[in-house]
Amino acid sequence: MPVQADGQWWQHAVFYQVYVRSFADSDGDGIGDLDGIRSRLGYLELLGVDALWLTPFFTSPMADHGYDVADPRDVDPVFGDLAKFDLLVAEAHERGIRVTIDLVPNHTSDQHPWFVAAVEAGPGSPERDRYWFRPGAYPPNNWTSIFGGPAWSQLPDGDWYLHLFAPEQPDLNWANPEVAADLERTLRFWLDRGVDGFRIDVAHGMAKPESLPDMDPSVREGSGLLHDNAVDPRFDNDGVHEVHRMIRKVLDGYPDTMAVGEIWVKGDDRFARYLRPDELHLGFNFRLVDADFDADAVRLAIESSMHAAADSTPTWTLSNHDVVRHVTRYGDGDLGLRRARAMTLVEFALPGALYIYNGEELGLPTVELPEWALQDPMWKRSGHTKRGRDGSRIPVPWEGTEPPYGFSTTANTWLPMPLEWAPLTVEAQLEDEDSTLSLYRHAIELRKTHPAFAGTEVEWYGAPAGCFAFRRRGGGLICALNTSPAPVPVPPGEVLLASEPLVDGQLPPDAAVWLV
Ligand code: NOJ
Repeated sequence: MPVQADGQWWQHAVFYQVYVRSFADSDGDGIGDLDGIRSRLGYLELLGVDALWLTPFFTSPMADHGYDVADPRDVDPVFGDLAKFDLLVAEAHERGIRVTIDLVPNHTSDQHPWFVAAVEAGPGSPERDRYWFRPGAYPPNNWTSIFGGPAWSQLPDGDWYLHLFAPEQPDLNWANPEVAADLERTLRFWLDRGVDGFRIDVAHGMAKPESLPDMDPSVREGSGLLHDNAVDPRFDNDGVHEVHRMIRKVLDGYPDTMAVGEIWVKGDDRFARYLRPDELHLGFNFRLVDADFDADAVRLAIESSMHAAADSTPTWTLSNHDVVRHVTRYGDGDLGLRRARAMTLVEFALPGALYIYNGEELGLPTVELPEWALQDPMWKRSGHTKRGRDGSRIPVPWEGTEPPYGFSTTANTWLPMPLEWAPLTVEAQLEDEDSTLSLYRHAIELRKTHPAFAGTEVEWYGAPAGCFAFRRRGGGLICALNTSPAPVPVPPGEVLLASEPLVDGQLPPDAAVWLV
């Protein structure tokens, strides 16, 4: 059924993150693209997702695989063109799937015409005022880049410029009104083309204190992607909220649209500020990503996320393109997969919006790639001390028994695909009732259609050590998780779905169950 008008759709939506390079390749260059996504919309419809989040497909030299944007209002030829984007949106809408896209307001590419002009125009020029340029013999302060090394690079003319990420990603100066005006143009450009919303990259990053104070040395040590520190002058400055209010104002003029921010800040109260009624609709937090597979840790993550979103809508995520996939985080081989399936039921039982990262519905692990294959700037900038994020970005296996598993027509995919992924393809799992893909399909369908999922509150039951059980107060769904080493009795009720078969009526270790 085509997309229906609904101003609240995002409050309970199942979003599906498409890492565009890795989803489906239509033209045989080994890199995923927009036509590839369009060719797989039938699968996404079958899976039952409500909306897509497409990672950046804009014109980019790809220093950070698209998070370095050279033209935010055009499609990079490697992914297609505007006409192909329009077709994708139209067909997705026809199938009842909304389309949201990434927005990167904190920085541009060093190949963006503004930065090119700033380099040419020289020190003190108005062109340099759109970024953070400072003169001096030394970097203006001790800030580090999230990818490692200093956050400042020097041009041959002596000026330093700020980049919280790679040197190819100079930070914009949001005190310059041209920057906000340009973002508004970008928002309207895509909204007029029919997008349903935006995922805002580094949503806590845009504003910086004019005085550029040093970071506390202890914060410098512990800082990195998705790590939040209470006192970090690089992030969560009050000025970011003005940016979100501006974005919200624009969105409010387009019915049924929304924005979700990528927010890594310390503390529920700071987080909640981003979700005030005139700011973002949703905010990713990484509490579930950070929690070990331990009932107490997971419960704490859930409670704190619910607390932070007490006046808004909680948003859940277990994996994305920046972190180790949860199958791999939770343990080796089968153990990791069992636990991941259990956590899927926990996540899908919660009220609010949730994000699936492409391939997690197939139980894909993060793969240790050979060094020759690694491309992530984080790996390069860390002096090769960290493995980077490529292992979580391997193309999706669709069918067949060997690479590229229907992802492309060339086996020379942008990241190599493992030889042992034949059992993980969509084709191998689709008809198998016990597969992880079937678990996701059932879970999504129940979540969308069963009355037990009504309401926005959860209440906790007493449970044996290493276990928890909560109940959706409105509809009455019960979800129980067992992270202990022994089977435990399940709460009374009829089983709706289980991540593993119950054994003699008991919930086995590393498993979760839904009951009504
Ligand atoms: C967060 C994105 O998720 C990540 O992939 C990117 O490298 C940084 N922001 C910089 O844009």
